[in-house]
Amino acid sequence: MTAHPPKRYIVALTGASGMPYAVSLLQKLAAKNVEIHGLVSAAGAQVLKLETGLSTSEVSRYMTRLYDEKDFAAPVASGSFPHDGMIIIPCTMGTLGAIANGISNNLIHRSADVTLKEGRRLLLILRETPLNRIHITNMLRLAEAGATIMPAMPGFYHHPTSIEELVAMFVDRILDVLGLPDPEAKRWGIES
Ligand SMILES: Cc1cc2nc3c(=O)[nH]c(=O)nc-3n(C[C@H](O)[C@H](O)[C@H](O)COP(=O)(O)O)c2cc1C
Repeated sequence: MTAHPPKRYIVALTGASGMPYAVSLLQKLAAKNVEIHGLVSAAGAQVLKLETGLSTSEVSRYMTRLYDEKDFAAPVASGSFPHDGMIIIPCTMGTLGAIANGISNNLIHRSADVTLKEGRRLLLILRETPLNRIHITNMLRLAEAGATIMPAMPGFYHHPTSIEELVAMFVDRILDVLGLPDPEAKRWGIES
């Protein structure tokens, strides 16, 4: 019997607020022994450092491979690179706009474009407030093109007592959407 190949995800960090979600997702995915192909935009690296104190190379320990955002020859730039989903976390309005309009200025935009054209799952963890009409229109365009729009909006109904708990609860929702549920996740109506 052949061994089942590990699941493979592309995880991209762009320069929006919300880096603790990205770090938590990377940690939880790495613990599941899936392949993680990582991308970090220049602004993403800046905000990562500002919000978590971590450098790109420090978070790359959770990744199977990290690609330069200008490396258009990377495997993730091609539809022939099979994967189980791409998550942009956090996702800026700039990256949203580029993908919604088919502009592949960097490898993150290109990989997202390819993910959509191949009919694979694209999950955008957007973060901005308030939203203007352009942001909302771009979200609708991408939702209609098959992307899953998942704004970084944690719930409070589990009464989180720390930022870590709040972040973990939101990341558990992302894992649910990816079909990788955490057995420890708190669930409404289910006693843990
Ligand atoms: C501290 C900080 C926080 C930011 N937060 C956001 C944000 O929440 N949402 C957003 O769309 N842009 C945010 N920006 C602006 C983006 O980083 C900027 O538009 C950048 O060009 C996005 O490039 P990228 O999409 O390639 O990462 C923030 C910038 C900084 C320095």
